[in-house]
Amino acid sequence: MLWSIARFFLFLCDPETAHHFVMIYLRIKSRVITQWHLCKIKIDLFRNLLRDQTAVSSYPKNPHILACMLRFFGTSVPCILTARDNFERGLFFKTQNKLVKSQKSYLTLWGHTYKHPLGMAAGFDKGQVIFPALFNMGFAFVEIGTVTPRPQSGNPKPRLFRLKDQQALINRMGFNNPGAQAVMHVLKRYPHRAGPVWLNIGKNKDTPQTQAAEDYRLCMRILYPHADAFVLNVSSPNTPQLRDLQEDKPLAVLLNTVQMENQDLAQRLGVSKKPILLKISPDCQDHEIIRIAEQCVAAGLHGLIACNTTMARPFIHKHAQQTGGLSGPVLESRALQVLRLLQPFREKLVLVSVGGIDTVCKAHTRLDQGAHLIELYTSLIYQGPGLIKQIARSFR
Ligand SMILES: Cc1cc2nc3c(=O)[nH]c(=O)nc-3n(C[C@H](O)[C@H](O)[C@H](O)COP(=O)(O)O)c2cc1C
Repeated sequence: MLWSIARFFLFLCDPETAHHFVMIYLRIKSRVITQWHLCKIKIDLFRNLLRDQTAVSSYPKNPHILACMLRFFGTSVPCILTARDNFERGLFFKTQNKLVKSQKSYLTLWGHTYKHPLGMAAGFDKGQVIFPALFNMGFAFVEIGTVTPRPQSGNPKPRLFRLKDQQALINRMGFNNPGAQAVMHVLKRYPHRAGPVWLNIGKNKDTPQTQAAEDYRLCMRILYPHADAFVLNVSSPNTPQLRDLQEDKPLAVLLNTVQMENQDLAQRLGVSKKPILLKISPDCQDHEIIRIAEQCVAAGLHGLIACNTTMARPFIHKHAQQTGGLSGPVLESRALQVLRLLQPFREKLVLVSVGGIDTVCKAHTRLDQGAHLIELYTSLIYQGPGLIKQIARSFR
Protein backbone atom coordinates (compact mmCIF):
# COMPACT_ATOMS: atom_id res chain seq x y z
CA MET A 1 0.00 0.00 0.00
CA LEU A 2 2.71 2.44 1.11
CA TRP A 3 4.83 1.38 -1.87
CA SER A 4 1.89 1.94 -4.29
CA ILE A 5 1.54 5.52 -3.05
CA ALA A 6 5.29 6.14 -3.17
CA ARG A 7 5.48 4.62 -6.65
CA PHE A 8 2.62 6.83 -7.88
CA PHE A 9 4.52 9.98 -6.89
CA LEU A 10 7.93 8.68 -7.96
CA PHE A 11 6.62 7.78 -11.41
CA LEU A 12 5.37 11.36 -11.83
CA CYS A 13 9.04 12.45 -11.80
CA ASP A 14 11.55 11.66 -14.51
CA PRO A 15 13.37 8.39 -13.69
CA GLU A 16 16.64 9.91 -12.56
CA THR A 17 14.98 12.48 -10.27
CA ALA A 18 12.93 9.66 -8.75
CA HIS A 19 16.13 7.67 -8.23
CA HIS A 20 17.71 10.71 -6.60
CA PHE A 21 14.83 11.03 -4.08
CA VAL A 22 14.97 7.31 -3.29
CA MET A 23 18.73 7.56 -2.72
CA ILE A 24 18.29 10.46 -0.27
CA TYR A 25 15.72 8.42 1.66
CA LEU A 26 17.90 5.29 1.67
CA ARG A 27 21.00 7.22 2.69
CA ILE A 28 19.19 8.69 5.71
CA LYS A 29 17.77 5.26 6.51
CA SER A 30 21.25 3.71 6.28
CA ARG A 31 22.61 6.22 8.79
CA VAL A 32 19.70 5.66 11.17
CA ILE A 33 20.07 1.86 10.93
CA THR A 34 23.81 2.09 11.60
CA GLN A 35 23.40 4.45 14.56
CA TRP A 36 20.61 2.31 15.97
CA HIS A 37 22.79 -0.76 15.65
CA LEU A 38 25.69 0.93 17.44
CA CYS A 39 23.31 2.12 20.13
CA LYS A 40 22.01 -1.43 20.65
CA ILE A 41 25.60 -2.68 20.90
CA LYS A 42 26.38 -0.06 23.55
CA ILE A 43 23.26 -0.90 25.55
CA ASP A 44 24.08 -4.63 25.39
CA LEU A 45 27.59 -3.92 26.51
CA PHE A 46 26.46 -1.75 29.38
CA ARG A 47 23.91 -4.38 30.45
CA ASN A 48 26.58 -7.08 30.38
CA LEU A 49 28.93 -4.98 32.40
CA LEU A 50 26.33 -4.42 35.08
CA ARG A 51 25.13 -8.02 35.08
CA ASP A 52 28.30 -10.00 34.99
CA GLN A 53 31.69 -8.45 35.46
CA THR A 54 33.42 -11.79 35.25
CA ALA A 55 31.78 -13.35 32.20
CA VAL A 56 34.52 -14.21 29.78
CA SER A 57 34.42 -15.85 26.40
CA SER A 58 37.01 -16.43 23.76
CA TYR A 59 35.71 -14.32 20.90
CA PRO A 60 38.15 -12.12 18.99
CA LYS A 61 38.86 -8.45 19.59
CA ASN A 62 37.63 -5.76 17.23
CA PRO A 63 39.47 -2.43 17.32
CA HIS A 64 36.58 -0.53 15.77
CA ILE A 65 34.15 -1.69 18.43
CA LEU A 66 36.72 -0.88 21.11
CA ALA A 67 36.99 2.63 19.67
CA CYS A 68 33.18 2.98 19.75
CA MET A 69 33.07 1.69 23.28
CA LEU A 70 35.72 4.08 24.51
CA ARG A 71 33.90 6.95 22.83
CA PHE A 72 30.67 5.88 24.51
CA PHE A 73 32.04 5.52 28.01
CA GLY A 74 34.47 8.43 27.87
CA THR A 75 37.25 8.68 30.40
CA SER A 76 35.08 10.21 33.11
CA VAL A 77 33.13 7.03 33.79
CA PRO A 78 34.74 5.04 36.59
CA CYS A 79 34.03 1.64 35.07
CA ILE A 80 36.09 2.37 31.97
CA LEU A 81 38.95 0.13 32.98
CA THR A 82 36.66 -2.79 33.76
CA ALA A 83 34.88 -2.19 30.49
CA ARG A 84 38.08 -2.17 28.51
CA ASP A 85 39.27 -5.21 30.40
CA ASN A 86 36.12 -7.14 29.69
CA PHE A 87 36.15 -6.03 26.11
CA GLU A 88 39.65 -7.26 25.61
CA ARG A 89 38.68 -10.61 27.03
CA GLY A 90 35.94 -10.80 24.45
CA LEU A 91 32.83 -10.21 26.52
CA PHE A 92 31.67 -7.83 23.87
CA PHE A 93 31.39 -10.34 21.12
CA LYS A 94 29.12 -12.55 23.21
CA THR A 95 26.13 -10.52 22.11
CA GLN A 96 27.47 -10.02 18.59
CA ASN A 97 27.94 -13.69 17.96
CA LYS A 98 24.50 -14.56 19.26
CA LEU A 99 23.11 -12.50 16.41
CA VAL A 100 25.19 -14.29 13.83
CA LYS A 101 24.32 -17.72 15.10
CA SER A 102 20.59 -17.10 15.05
CA GLN A 103 20.67 -16.28 11.34
CA LYS A 104 19.75 -19.17 9.07
CA SER A 105 22.27 -19.56 6.31
CA TYR A 106 21.47 -20.50 2.70
CA LEU A 107 25.06 -20.66 1.57
CA THR A 108 28.54 -20.09 2.92
CA LEU A 109 30.81 -18.78 0.23
CA TRP A 110 34.36 -17.50 0.51
CA GLY A 111 34.01 -17.33 4.27
CA HIS A 112 30.78 -15.33 4.24
CA THR A 113 27.23 -16.29 5.02
CA TYR A 114 24.46 -15.66 2.49
CA LYS A 115 21.06 -15.78 4.23
CA HIS A 116 19.40 -16.48 0.87
CA PRO A 117 20.62 -16.22 -2.75
CA LEU A 118 19.16 -12.84 -3.76
CA GLY A 119 21.44 -9.80 -4.02
CA MET A 120 21.13 -6.23 -5.25
CA ALA A 121 22.62 -5.90 -8.74
CA ALA A 122 25.20 -3.23 -9.59
CA GLY A 123 24.08 0.22 -10.70
CA PHE A 124 21.53 1.02 -8.01
CA ASP A 125 24.11 2.07 -5.43
CA LYS A 126 26.88 3.54 -7.54
CA GLY A 127 28.99 4.45 -4.55
CA GLN A 128 26.64 6.41 -2.34
CA VAL A 129 26.88 3.43 0.01
CA ILE A 130 23.37 2.73 1.15
CA PHE A 131 23.85 -0.97 1.80
CA PRO A 132 22.51 -0.91 5.40
CA ALA A 133 19.12 0.12 3.96
CA LEU A 134 19.36 -2.49 1.19
CA PHE A 135 20.10 -5.27 3.69
CA ASN A 136 17.20 -3.98 5.74
CA MET A 137 15.01 -4.24 2.62
CA GLY A 138 15.82 -7.96 2.55
CA PHE A 139 18.77 -8.42 0.18
CA ALA A 140 21.30 -11.06 1.26
CA PHE A 141 24.22 -9.31 -0.42
CA VAL A 142 24.80 -6.03 -2.21
CA GLU A 143 26.90 -5.11 -5.23
CA ILE A 144 28.08 -1.50 -5.19
CA GLY A 145 29.27 0.22 -8.38
CA THR A 146 30.38 0.48 -11.01
CA VAL A 147 33.15 2.47 -9.33
CA THR A 148 35.99 3.95 -11.41
CA PRO A 149 39.39 5.18 -10.13
CA ARG A 150 38.54 8.84 -10.70
CA PRO A 151 35.13 10.48 -10.17
CA GLN A 152 33.05 10.85 -13.29
CA SER A 153 29.74 12.55 -14.03
CA GLY A 154 28.55 10.11 -16.67
CA ASN A 155 26.68 10.84 -19.89
CA PRO A 156 24.52 13.95 -20.42
CA LYS A 157 20.91 13.75 -19.19
CA PRO A 158 18.37 12.40 -20.01
CA ARG A 159 20.04 9.01 -19.75
CA LEU A 160 17.47 6.80 -18.03
CA PHE A 161 14.13 5.84 -19.57
CA ARG A 162 11.13 3.88 -18.31
CA LEU A 163 9.33 1.53 -20.68
CA LYS A 164 6.30 0.95 -18.50
CA ASP A 165 4.45 -1.48 -20.79
CA GLN A 166 7.45 -3.82 -20.76
CA GLN A 167 8.33 -3.02 -17.11
CA ALA A 168 11.78 -2.33 -18.53
CA LEU A 169 14.45 0.38 -18.35
CA ILE A 170 16.93 1.74 -20.85
CA ASN A 171 19.96 3.42 -19.33
CA ARG A 172 23.08 5.08 -20.66
CA MET A 173 24.29 6.42 -17.32
CA GLY A 174 27.97 5.97 -18.24
CA PHE A 175 29.44 5.07 -14.84
CA ASN A 176 28.47 8.25 -12.98
CA ASN A 177 30.18 7.70 -9.62
CA PRO A 178 32.15 9.61 -6.98
CA GLY A 179 35.41 7.72 -7.64
CA ALA A 180 37.17 4.99 -5.69
CA GLN A 181 38.74 7.25 -3.02
CA ALA A 182 35.40 8.81 -2.09
CA VAL A 183 33.68 5.42 -2.00
CA MET A 184 36.45 4.07 0.21
CA HIS A 185 35.97 6.92 2.71
CA VAL A 186 32.23 6.29 2.96
CA LEU A 187 32.70 2.53 3.22
CA LYS A 188 34.97 3.12 6.21
CA ARG A 189 32.02 4.62 8.06
CA TYR A 190 30.09 1.36 7.79
CA PRO A 191 32.25 -1.36 9.29
CA HIS A 192 29.25 -3.39 10.44
CA ARG A 193 27.63 -5.32 7.62
CA ALA A 194 24.53 -7.47 7.69
CA GLY A 195 25.83 -9.40 4.65
CA PRO A 196 28.59 -9.48 2.03
CA VAL A 197 29.31 -6.31 0.06
CA TRP A 198 30.78 -6.74 -3.42
CA LEU A 199 32.47 -3.92 -5.29
CA ASN A 200 31.91 -3.66 -9.01
CA ILE A 201 34.82 -1.83 -10.67
CA GLY A 202 35.44 -0.41 -14.13
CA LYS A 203 37.53 1.98 -16.16
CA ASN A 204 37.17 5.74 -16.58
CA LYS A 205 35.78 6.85 -19.92
CA ASP A 206 38.91 8.88 -20.78
CA THR A 207 41.41 6.15 -19.88
CA PRO A 208 43.05 4.88 -23.08
CA GLN A 209 42.05 1.34 -23.92
CA THR A 210 45.66 0.16 -23.58
CA GLN A 211 45.66 1.39 -19.94
CA ALA A 212 42.29 -0.17 -19.03
CA ALA A 213 43.70 -2.93 -16.83
CA GLU A 214 45.51 -0.28 -14.76
CA ASP A 215 42.18 1.31 -13.82
CA TYR A 216 40.89 -1.99 -12.45
CA ARG A 217 44.14 -2.49 -10.56
CA LEU A 218 43.89 1.02 -9.08
CA CYS A 219 40.31 0.46 -7.92
CA MET A 220 41.34 -2.78 -6.23
CA ARG A 221 44.24 -1.11 -4.49
CA ILE A 222 42.04 1.66 -3.08
CA LEU A 223 39.05 -0.47 -2.13
CA TYR A 224 40.69 -3.76 -1.16
CA PRO A 225 40.12 -3.78 2.62
CA HIS A 226 36.46 -2.87 2.19
CA ALA A 227 35.35 -5.41 -0.42
CA ASP A 228 34.11 -8.91 0.29
CA ALA A 229 34.48 -9.61 -3.46
CA PHE A 230 35.32 -7.68 -6.62
CA VAL A 231 33.35 -7.70 -9.85
CA LEU A 232 35.13 -6.72 -13.07
CA ASN A 233 32.64 -4.92 -15.25
CA VAL A 234 33.66 -5.41 -18.87
CA SER A 235 30.14 -5.49 -20.24
CA SER A 236 28.46 -2.12 -19.81
CA PRO A 237 27.33 -0.81 -23.21
CA ASN A 238 27.66 2.80 -22.09
CA THR A 239 31.44 3.21 -21.91
CA PRO A 240 33.05 3.27 -25.36
CA GLN A 241 35.07 0.12 -26.11
CA LEU A 242 34.52 -1.35 -22.64
CA ARG A 243 33.00 -4.48 -24.12
CA ASP A 244 36.14 -4.99 -26.23
CA LEU A 245 37.81 -6.04 -22.98
CA GLN A 246 35.90 -9.32 -23.33
CA GLU A 247 38.04 -10.21 -26.34
CA ASP A 248 40.78 -12.80 -25.98
CA LYS A 249 43.93 -10.71 -25.60
CA PRO A 250 42.66 -7.72 -23.57
CA LEU A 251 40.79 -10.12 -21.28
CA ALA A 252 43.95 -12.16 -20.67
CA VAL A 253 45.86 -8.96 -19.80
CA LEU A 254 43.08 -7.79 -17.48
CA LEU A 255 42.70 -11.11 -15.65
CA ASN A 256 46.43 -11.47 -15.25
CA THR A 257 46.78 -7.90 -13.91
CA VAL A 258 44.00 -8.20 -11.33
CA GLN A 259 45.12 -11.62 -10.15
CA MET A 260 48.65 -10.37 -9.62
CA GLU A 261 47.31 -7.37 -7.72
CA ASN A 262 45.07 -9.66 -5.66
CA GLN A 263 48.03 -11.80 -4.66
CA ASP A 264 50.17 -8.78 -3.90
CA LEU A 265 47.58 -6.91 -1.81
CA ALA A 266 46.61 -10.00 0.14
CA GLN A 267 50.24 -10.62 1.02
CA ARG A 268 50.92 -7.02 1.95
CA LEU A 269 47.83 -6.69 4.14
CA GLY A 270 48.12 -10.18 5.60
CA VAL A 271 44.62 -11.23 4.56
CA SER A 272 43.33 -13.96 2.28
CA LYS A 273 42.86 -13.22 -1.42
CA LYS A 274 39.53 -11.65 -2.40
CA PRO A 275 37.18 -13.45 -4.73
CA ILE A 276 37.03 -11.88 -8.20
CA LEU A 277 34.09 -12.28 -10.58
CA LEU A 278 33.61 -11.10 -14.15
CA LYS A 279 30.34 -9.58 -15.39
CA ILE A 280 29.58 -10.47 -18.99
CA SER A 281 27.36 -9.13 -21.72
CA PRO A 282 24.25 -10.90 -23.02
CA ASP A 283 25.15 -9.63 -26.50
CA CYS A 284 28.22 -11.88 -26.84
CA GLN A 285 27.85 -14.82 -29.21
CA ASP A 286 27.41 -18.20 -27.52
CA HIS A 287 30.91 -19.35 -28.48
CA GLU A 288 32.35 -16.13 -27.06
CA ILE A 289 30.62 -16.75 -23.75
CA ILE A 290 32.12 -20.24 -23.53
CA ARG A 291 35.54 -18.86 -24.42
CA ILE A 292 35.28 -16.14 -21.73
CA ALA A 293 34.28 -18.75 -19.14
CA GLU A 294 37.23 -20.95 -20.12
CA GLN A 295 39.57 -18.00 -19.82
CA CYS A 296 38.17 -17.17 -16.37
CA VAL A 297 38.73 -20.74 -15.19
CA ALA A 298 42.26 -20.73 -16.57
CA ALA A 299 43.03 -17.43 -14.81
CA GLY A 300 41.70 -18.74 -11.49
CA LEU A 301 38.76 -16.33 -11.30
CA HIS A 302 36.05 -17.16 -8.77
CA GLY A 303 32.86 -16.52 -10.66
CA LEU A 304 30.81 -15.04 -13.48
CA ILE A 305 27.85 -12.68 -13.38
CA ALA A 306 25.51 -13.17 -16.29
CA CYS A 307 24.52 -10.74 -17.43
CA ASN A 308 24.62 -6.99 -17.94
CA THR A 309 22.06 -4.96 -19.95
CA THR A 310 21.50 -5.62 -23.66
CA MET A 311 21.72 -3.46 -26.77
CA ALA A 312 19.04 -5.61 -28.42
CA ARG A 313 15.51 -4.20 -28.80
CA PRO A 314 13.12 -7.12 -29.14
CA PHE A 315 9.99 -4.88 -29.31
CA ILE A 316 8.66 -1.56 -30.56
CA HIS A 317 8.39 1.36 -28.13
CA LYS A 318 8.76 5.14 -28.38
CA HIS A 319 11.95 4.90 -26.26
CA ALA A 320 13.28 1.79 -28.00
CA GLN A 321 15.51 3.85 -30.28
CA GLN A 322 17.31 5.40 -27.30
CA THR A 323 20.89 4.22 -27.08
CA GLY A 324 21.83 2.40 -23.90
CA GLY A 325 21.38 -0.89 -22.13
CA LEU A 326 17.98 -2.51 -21.82
CA SER A 327 17.00 -4.34 -18.64
CA GLY A 328 13.93 -6.00 -17.17
CA PRO A 329 11.74 -8.99 -18.17
CA VAL A 330 12.69 -8.59 -21.86
CA LEU A 331 16.18 -9.71 -20.87
CA GLU A 332 14.93 -12.83 -19.16
CA SER A 333 15.15 -15.35 -21.99
CA ARG A 334 18.70 -14.35 -23.01
CA ALA A 335 19.86 -14.31 -19.35
CA LEU A 336 18.47 -17.84 -18.99
CA GLN A 337 20.15 -18.97 -22.24
CA VAL A 338 23.49 -17.60 -21.07
CA LEU A 339 23.09 -19.34 -17.72
CA ARG A 340 22.43 -22.67 -19.47
CA LEU A 341 25.55 -22.16 -21.59
CA LEU A 342 27.53 -21.67 -18.40
CA GLN A 343 26.11 -24.72 -16.60
CA PRO A 344 29.15 -26.92 -17.38
CA PHE A 345 31.33 -24.43 -15.48
CA ARG A 346 29.30 -24.43 -12.27
CA GLU A 347 31.75 -26.67 -10.44
CA LYS A 348 34.63 -24.31 -11.19
CA LEU A 349 32.96 -20.91 -11.14
CA VAL A 350 30.28 -19.38 -8.95
CA LEU A 351 27.46 -18.45 -11.30
CA VAL A 352 25.40 -15.36 -10.51
CA SER A 353 22.35 -14.95 -12.71
CA VAL A 354 20.82 -11.51 -13.27
CA GLY A 355 18.43 -10.11 -15.85
CA GLY A 356 14.65 -10.04 -15.82
CA ILE A 357 14.01 -11.71 -12.47
CA ASP A 358 10.68 -10.28 -11.34
CA THR A 359 8.84 -13.16 -9.63
CA VAL A 360 9.55 -15.81 -7.01
CA CYS A 361 9.11 -18.47 -9.68
CA LYS A 362 11.73 -16.90 -11.99
CA ALA A 363 14.15 -16.62 -9.07
CA HIS A 364 13.81 -20.34 -8.37
CA THR A 365 14.11 -21.24 -12.06
CA ARG A 366 17.55 -19.58 -12.20
CA LEU A 367 18.73 -21.65 -9.26
CA ASP A 368 17.26 -24.81 -10.79
CA GLN A 369 19.18 -23.99 -13.97
CA GLY A 370 22.52 -23.87 -12.19
CA ALA A 371 22.90 -20.41 -10.64
CA HIS A 372 24.46 -20.28 -7.19
CA LEU A 373 23.24 -16.74 -6.56
CA ILE A 374 20.84 -14.32 -8.25
CA GLU A 375 20.49 -10.55 -8.47
CA LEU A 376 17.91 -8.06 -9.65
CA TYR A 377 17.51 -4.34 -10.29
CA THR A 378 14.70 -3.30 -12.66
CA SER A 379 11.91 -5.24 -10.94
CA LEU A 380 12.68 -3.38 -7.71
CA ILE A 381 11.84 -0.13 -9.53
CA TYR A 382 8.49 -1.45 -10.78
CA GLN A 383 7.41 -3.70 -7.91
CA GLY A 384 9.12 -2.23 -4.88
CA PRO A 385 10.66 -3.82 -1.80
CA GLY A 386 7.74 -6.25 -1.33
CA LEU A 387 9.21 -8.43 -4.09
CA ILE A 388 12.53 -8.72 -2.25
CA LYS A 389 10.78 -9.89 0.91
CA GLN A 390 8.69 -12.42 -1.09
CA ILE A 391 11.73 -13.92 -2.81
CA ALA A 392 13.77 -13.97 0.42
CA ARG A 393 10.91 -15.65 2.31
CA SER A 394 10.57 -18.33 -0.36
CA PHE A 395 14.05 -19.61 0.54
CA ARG A 396 13.36 -20.06 4.26
C1 LIG B 1 19.92 2.26 -14.31
C2 LIG B 1 20.84 1.08 -14.35
C3 LIG B 1 22.20 1.27 -14.10
C4 LIG B 1 23.07 0.18 -14.14
N1 LIG B 1 24.39 0.39 -13.86
C5 LIG B 1 25.22 -0.66 -13.84
C6 LIG B 1 26.58 -0.48 -13.51
O1 LIG B 1 27.04 0.62 -13.20
N2 LIG B 1 27.39 -1.58 -13.53
C7 LIG B 1 26.93 -2.84 -13.84
O2 LIG B 1 27.72 -3.78 -13.82
N3 LIG B 1 25.65 -3.03 -14.15
C8 LIG B 1 24.78 -1.99 -14.16
N4 LIG B 1 23.47 -2.18 -14.48
C9 LIG B 1 23.01 -3.53 -14.89
C10 LIG B 1 22.36 -4.30 -13.76
O3 LIG B 1 23.28 -4.54 -12.72
C11 LIG B 1 21.80 -5.63 -14.27
O4 LIG B 1 22.86 -6.41 -14.76
C12 LIG B 1 20.78 -5.46 -15.39
O5 LIG B 1 19.95 -4.36 -15.13
C13 LIG B 1 19.90 -6.70 -15.58
O6 LIG B 1 19.15 -6.99 -14.43
P1 LIG B 1 17.60 -6.56 -14.22
O7 LIG B 1 16.85 -7.00 -15.44
O8 LIG B 1 17.17 -7.25 -12.97
O9 LIG B 1 17.60 -5.08 -14.08
C14 LIG B 1 22.57 -1.11 -14.45
C15 LIG B 1 21.21 -1.27 -14.70
C16 LIG B 1 20.34 -0.21 -14.65
C17 LIG B 1 18.88 -0.43 -14.94
